[in-house]
Amino acid sequence: MSAFSVWVLFAVFYAAQGAPNFPSSSDGLVPEGKPPSFVTPGQKYRIATGSTVVLPCRITQPGSYVLVWKRGIAVLTAGPVKVTPDPRVRLLPSPVSTSSIPGIPELSGGGGYSLELKDVKPQDAGDYVCQIGTMDPIEITHTLEILVPARIHYVSHTGPLEVLQGATVKMECRSSGNPVPTVSWSRKNNVLPSGERSVSGQSMVIQHADRHSAGQYECAAENGVGQIDSRHITLNVLYGPEVETERATVHTGIGLEAQLVCIVHAEPSPQVLWFKDTAQLGTTEQHAAHARGNRYTLVIRNVSTADFGNYSCVASNAHGKGRGQLILTGIAGLAVFDSPPIGTEKDFYNISWSVNSHAAIIEYRLYYRKPKHHHGHHEDRNSTKMSFRTDWQSFVIPGAGISANQFYTPAPFPGVTRQKMWHTITGLQPATSYEARVQAKNVHGWNKLSPIFHFTTKSNDMDNMIEPSAQPAVYGVSQQGMSPFSSGVRSYISSFFLLILVPVFFAFF
Ligand SMILES: *[C@@H]1O[C@H](CO)[C@@H](O)[C@H](O)[C@H]1NC(C)=O
Ligand SMILES: *[C@@H]1O[C@H](CO)[C@@H](O)[C@H](O)[C@H]1NC(C)=O
Ligand SMILES: *[C@@H]1O[C@H](CO)[C@@H](O)[C@H](O)[C@H]1NC(C)=O
Ligand SMILES: *[C@@H]1O[C@H](CO)[C@@H](O)[C@H](O)[C@H]1NC(C)=O
Repeated sequence: MSAFSVWVLFAVFYAAQGAPNFPSSSDGLVPEGKPPSFVTPGQKYRIATGSTVVLPCRITQPGSYVLVWKRGIAVLTAGPVKVTPDPRVRLLPSPVSTSSIPGIPELSGGGGYSLELKDVKPQDAGDYVCQIGTMDPIEITHTLEILVPARIHYVSHTGPLEVLQGATVKMECRSSGNPVPTVSWSRKNNVLPSGERSVSGQSMVIQHADRHSAGQYECAAENGVGQIDSRHITLNVLYGPEVETERATVHTGIGLEAQLVCIVHAEPSPQVLWFKDTAQLGTTEQHAAHARGNRYTLVIRNVSTADFGNYSCVASNAHGKGRGQLILTGIAGLAVFDSPPIGTEKDFYNISWSVNSHAAIIEYRLYYRKPKHHHGHHEDRNSTKMSFRTDWQSFVIPGAGISANQFYTPAPFPGVTRQKMWHTITGLQPATSYEARVQAKNVHGWNKLSPIFHFTTKSNDMDNMIEPSAQPAVYGVSQQGMSPFSSGVRSYISSFFLLILVPVFFAFF
């Protein structure tokens, strides 16, 4: 074993001990003729506040030169001695060898001191110089950038924010951090009034606040360092009642329980009163008013003829008043046709409909008519004129009675029965469009005439079964056959991707 190897082992031993007198103990052993150089170059460090950084300064041939750490003109350490009183600073002898196997001469023989800085603070940012006091001092510079997590230090509204409807609301959150954080706004369990999920910016403005603007807003500051910082602002918008009715006309019957419902939006909560015509209704054996959320209900028990008529709910708060109008009636609801718009026969058509009524329908009046000049579709092909006779043909059809109602379907709402009826209209022309309306009468009177229904008789010519005719509106339904197909293709493609992607996912993750 050569004398040089003995020295290396000796040096490794001392370095492992963190011996502060290492440089002096090696005095004289290193030839002065070889000036030291840096093994570690100057670097830039980006460190989050609160963490610990070790700035390396490893040199070849420490010899008898003094290594000094400086920050600006302030000397932090000199040789093995810590000069700064800052307890967060520590001097760490650089490992003599980067090799984990001691005694390999090629990798050993260096030295120097690293500077450890604990619990870094924003003011620690700057240049740190490691200098070797040779005749011509040489140095490396480490630059420390301190990353500071985003923090919100100002919120425009700490308590709940109350504004009047129509007001302009400005909410603001100011933040700091390094890098400069981005602030974004969102609303809890909702999109923003603009319809966006979130917007970025230090402040958010809502023009013309209304009830849809109310809610809990969140501003969140984020810069990629540490946790996101966020604050909440609760916005209450005060406004007068906005009243809608669930059903403006409520069909009922004698002896039933009827419910009249108003949906009222107001802030603060409104007082809601019920009226029949101009008389205010109190809670009696006959009437009860309930509120659940924004749903206000008047229950009328054991309905009698005297209960039919006009009702209103009147809602008021400090910001205004709103009214909903309702009609309680025993007459039937509007009839709805349910026969197919294209008939299966050339000269007759089976038309069917239903009405909602508690009382049995006594009779129906069915009306129909056809275009004036319409003697078959061939002659009509290039006609640009569409004139119609305005005279309707009509039939009176007796009601089937509820007990004899063979077309029973579940009631659309309590106490009311869906009553169905059909009638075969004969003496029709082929491939011709007709219009029909129907009206129903029960013990309380005639209901309103139904909206117009269009139907077409079957063509003589089998090839022209769905030839567009004078009333094209009813044909759209059967000609949109492409869309179910294309959605089927789409779902096929998506399940294909699932089949492929799921195994790939599991194979890789
Ligand atoms: C409903 O009112 C009628 C009188 O209008 C009465 O004869 C009947 O007993 C009442 N029914 C109930 C259940 O209160
Ligand atoms: C109910 O109100 C309508 C208008 O909404 C009115 O035409 C009708 O006459 C009123 N009926 C009664 C009984 O006041
Ligand atoms: C007419 O259509 C209804 C169903 O909508 C059916 O019950 C009835 O039997 C049909 N009448 C004739 C004569 O086909
Ligand atoms: C209708 O069509 C016939 C031939 O197909 C043609 O002679 C006639 O001018 C057309 N009429 C109109 C109003 O376009």
